[in-house]
Amino acid sequence: MPEIKKLPKDFLWGYATASYQVEGACEQDGRELSIWDTFSRDPTHTEDGKSGDVATDSYNRWEEDIALMKSYGVNAYRFSLSWSRIIPKGGRDDPVNPEGIAFYRNFILKLLENGIKPMPTIFHWDTPQALQDKYLGFLNKDEIVQDFVRYADVCFENFGDLVETWLTINEPNIYSILGHCIGAHAPGRSSDRTKSPEGNSLTEPYIVGHSLLVCHARTINLWRTKYKQKYPHVKLGIVINVNWGEPYDSSEGSKEAAEEFMHKASLWLSDPVYFGDYSDYLKSKVGDRLPVFTEEEKSLLKGSNDFFGLNHYTAYYIKKRTTPIGPTDFMAQLMPDIEPTQIGSDGKEIGPKAGLSWVRPVAWGFRKLLEYLYDRYHQDIYITENGVICPNERNLPREVGLKDQFRIDYFKDYANQIIDLVNEGRVPVKSYIIWSFLDNFEWQEGFTRFGVTWVDFDDKLTRYPKDSAGYIKKFFEDHLEK
Ligand code: NOJ
Repeated sequence: MPEIKKLPKDFLWGYATASYQVEGACEQDGRELSIWDTFSRDPTHTEDGKSGDVATDSYNRWEEDIALMKSYGVNAYRFSLSWSRIIPKGGRDDPVNPEGIAFYRNFILKLLENGIKPMPTIFHWDTPQALQDKYLGFLNKDEIVQDFVRYADVCFENFGDLVETWLTINEPNIYSILGHCIGAHAPGRSSDRTKSPEGNSLTEPYIVGHSLLVCHARTINLWRTKYKQKYPHVKLGIVINVNWGEPYDSSEGSKEAAEEFMHKASLWLSDPVYFGDYSDYLKSKVGDRLPVFTEEEKSLLKGSNDFFGLNHYTAYYIKKRTTPIGPTDFMAQLMPDIEPTQIGSDGKEIGPKAGLSWVRPVAWGFRKLLEYLYDRYHQDIYITENGVICPNERNLPREVGLKDQFRIDYFKDYANQIIDLVNEGRVPVKSYIIWSFLDNFEWQEGFTRFGVTWVDFDDKLTRYPKDSAGYIKKFFEDHLEK
């Protein structure tokens, strides 16, 4: 028997969720609405016409959920805090909701009691509606930054003694592009005048991304000046969604296109966290649509991550664009020179088809990406999300859906890339957090089945472990040092 390669015993592994996707209880105990409540209550905004009003009702079932998580053997749990549950109206002078604070404090204490390390995300897309109404949310940097930092301060003040790993903001690139370019996510802005009378899809995502970065930088500054001395062991970082862009072929054109994809889709929002500014490359491509950081913002941004938080799902082949761009294809208008494809120059598919087009398994792309990010930023990488939905999973009956061999294969292949890179001493990966603990509300897709737990959406939201939950538990029992 070959010796099993191990991960160090302090390696963090577990599952992730986000407040709006699981909590429900959207108007319970003082919580007020977020932009996602408003957006998803319009049935034309989600694939199944459903909103996240109830979601998986995890706000009311939190004890049951923690017990289930414990039975899965995890040592960490990534979840997000709902801004409008903690400060219902969101603003810097608005009152804090004691019931919201009590909920998360009890929740975190219960995780710790069960040996599970809390990894809270401060902001996972659910901007308080009141702030969107008041000044257009993240389109107004000067306002949102002050409100965001006060919200972060309330979180640190109330939970800072219990948390060792904080995630400031989830996927600012996706929030900006899907919410302010394509219009498929809240607040639904785009240049499609039938949907969004005043949006400007080619400029707004850059304004929003800019605000999010400054919120991150000022939150880190707050931590470092006010809390770090008391809790020196605590680490904080932003989470960026990065897919891998593989050149379509060996031509210079494809190489350049792949580089452009990496910059425009992702590095746009990670470079400033390391280098204090957008890259010259990005500036040359985006021109004056890209806002400018002040000198103070630059110095706060530079070095503001303690680790690189990575959400990763798939890879694409990237080539120079050869096909015309449609008038409402805003994503392509944002990246007009390049064309992502899932079919290679050899005519083969990049990976097997999954339940959604953008989660095809491509484990070799994961390895290449981890090497690329480490070579660029030289910092520990925390995988904060990685996951898949099996082919046709949302339409399967439960007995079939529980046998999720496709997901098992995905995790085996992806986790093995991490184990190899760590054992080779090539890339310091410190966590593997899987999306998701439960089947849940998948934004514009409505309810889908990303979870290792089957949730019966038609019958009392009962939870049933899928085969993958048992497989992954055993995998980490075998691969973590004792
Ligand atoms: C990205 C997001 O952070 C999460 O909210 C989403 O559900 C998963 N990935 C899957 O799309």
